[in-house]
Amino acid sequence: MLSSEPHIINLPKILDERGNLSFIEEENHIPFKIERTYWIYDVPGGESRGGHAYSTLQEFIVALSGSFDVVLHDGIKEYRFQLNRSYYGLYIPKMMWRSLENFSTNSLALILADQHFNEGDYIRDFETFKKLKDEK
Ligand code: TYD
Repeated sequence: MLSSEPHIINLPKILDERGNLSFIEEENHIPFKIERTYWIYDVPGGESRGGHAYSTLQEFIVALSGSFDVVLHDGIKEYRFQLNRSYYGLYIPKMMWRSLENFSTNSLALILADQHFNEGDYIRDFETFKKLKDEK
């Protein structure tokens, strides 16, 4: 799978009667080195997160608990992924408009990113995003 396309990555799953275990190794299960981890939680019903793209940042999102939808747009087409298990996640390349929607009660989104936080990498206007995509 080209890493310029968003795609689901299945993670190792160690089944155990005592409780299951999954894990992520940078540059092994995901195609980048992890520079930052953040998580989204306590999302009130009906709220959505995101609504922007990143110029250069790549991310990997896992629903550690509960479920939510990740809606992506590459400037031409929309992709929609429902994340609802902790043993797989969604790889999102740079230059993808994204929003996270339909959070279930008590859902927990874990996000791994390949860069430190940098507001300068955000594109927060969809028309600007589409123009930048057209120039590529
Ligand atoms: P933002 O990325 O817009 O949230 P989301 O896309 O998940 O809805 O970030 C919201 C605020 O949090 C914004 O003021 C920037 C800040 N922030 C950090 O300081 N560090 C981080 O790692 C992230 C992701 C956000």
